[in-house]
Amino acid sequence: MSKQADLSVEFLGFKMKNPFMLSSSPVSNSAEMVGRAFDAGWGGVAYKTVVSDRIPIIHPSPRMAAYRPAGKRQLGVQNVEQTSDRGLKANLLDIMYLKKRWPDHLVMASIMGFSNQEWADLAKACVDAGADMLEVNVSCPHMTVEGSGAKVGQCQELVQKFTETVRNSCKIPIVAKMTPNITDITVPAMYAKKGGADGIAAINSVAGLSGIGADDWVPSPNVFGKGAACGFTGPAIKPIGLRCISELAKCHDLQLPLSGIGGIETWVDALEYLLVGATTIQVTTGIIHYGQGIVENMIEGLSDYMTIKGVKSLKELIGKALPNVHATHDFDLARQGIARYDLDRCVGCGQCYVVCRDAGGWALDWDAKKRRPALDEKKCLSCMVCSFACPVDGLITFKEMPKSYRRAETVTLGKELETQRRS
Ligand SMILES: Cc1cc2nc3c(=O)[nH]c(=O)nc-3n(C[C@H](O)[C@H](O)[C@H](O)COP(=O)(O)O)c2cc1C
Ligand code: SF4
Ligand code: SF4
Repeated sequence: MSKQADLSVEFLGFKMKNPFMLSSSPVSNSAEMVGRAFDAGWGGVAYKTVVSDRIPIIHPSPRMAAYRPAGKRQLGVQNVEQTSDRGLKANLLDIMYLKKRWPDHLVMASIMGFSNQEWADLAKACVDAGADMLEVNVSCPHMTVEGSGAKVGQCQELVQKFTETVRNSCKIPIVAKMTPNITDITVPAMYAKKGGADGIAAINSVAGLSGIGADDWVPSPNVFGKGAACGFTGPAIKPIGLRCISELAKCHDLQLPLSGIGGIETWVDALEYLLVGATTIQVTTGIIHYGQGIVENMIEGLSDYMTIKGVKSLKELIGKALPNVHATHDFDLARQGIARYDLDRCVGCGQCYVVCRDAGGWALDWDAKKRRPALDEKKCLSCMVCSFACPVDGLITFKEMPKSYRRAETVTLGKELETQRRS
């Protein structure tokens, strides 16, 4: 495609050239790194969480492990990294430099206080350094400093208190970053709003144990013989992030601009977050996997999509999927369907037969001579597991059946036992 669509977006009064931001993490650790990302095309940054110098931050070593189940592609990262371990002065100077050198790019300073006073001091210091807005980090799941991070985010009164402290210390917009490690993410978000937050970012890392060493029985990352439930991120958490953003966007009393985070690596991931209500998009693990350059594909892909769809501005996409996100009790259960096979494209691998027999309705017969499946429509559960197993994309699809369609009952092998029981 030739001409780039207008990807600009306004977030809490700041006009960004596109919605793509580095999220607060090792990918936004210094001005040198962030500057290169701005030049590569990113529209903004949530700068790596800044703390005071009172408690020295030491990262466990090693601090990350890759999640590659059964040797597949990188589905996630398990990390025990803390907030920034750089001195406060160094971080403030870098924030100042970024704002001077790239005034048109959004610089959001992420902060975490270990006392009420620290929240106030950090807010003021980052405002003085020129930050456009602040991200209140109450959501890191593995801080080694007692009573900080997600421990705060899971206690609504503290979320409100610390947001209020930050609100009373500055006039620039405040975004509260939520933990997903909670039952209902709208609850702390509402408390953040009560405390004066102007926007919500979600999600921070999901607390997880993504691997245990088979030889040493230690969870990854193995920090000299010890592991811990800690931050899990990347494509595997995208479903959780999308759900959280949609819940926040649908929360009638919240109505705050949202920054979507969690497993975003492609323009399609970004689009999905926009469609469920995010205004900006933040990325870490995608960059850990592939580098900053992924933003080029995100820009090009989203731009082409908008051009093809005739969408003039990004605003038109935000929240567009929300009317389609229902509670399951809204489903029309009277409408039923089955799998449809386009057997002209079949390569005869037999995978559909195997999974339908072992995990579906055993609705397929197998013609061993022709090496083709044959579907008994009455037995098909429309579970669609055959379509996941089929190596030919789009060969097995879903089709709706007429209202008169009745599915056969699953065979009950124990039927004769009933007569035995009666006699
Ligand atoms: C190694 C690592 C360090 C992180 N450090 C921070 C941090 O200092 N502050 C913060 O708010 N989030 C931190 N995060 C969380 C990310 O900003 C982001 O919320 C999370 O990784 C989910 O996004 P992703 O799936 O794109 O990685 C960190 C994530 C990783 C992987
Ligand atoms: S949809 Fe389920 S029951 Fe139907 S053919 Fe596929 S695997 Fe079998
Ligand atoms: S899985 Fe697909 S390609 Fe393989 S036999 Fe079934 S329909 Fe044919």
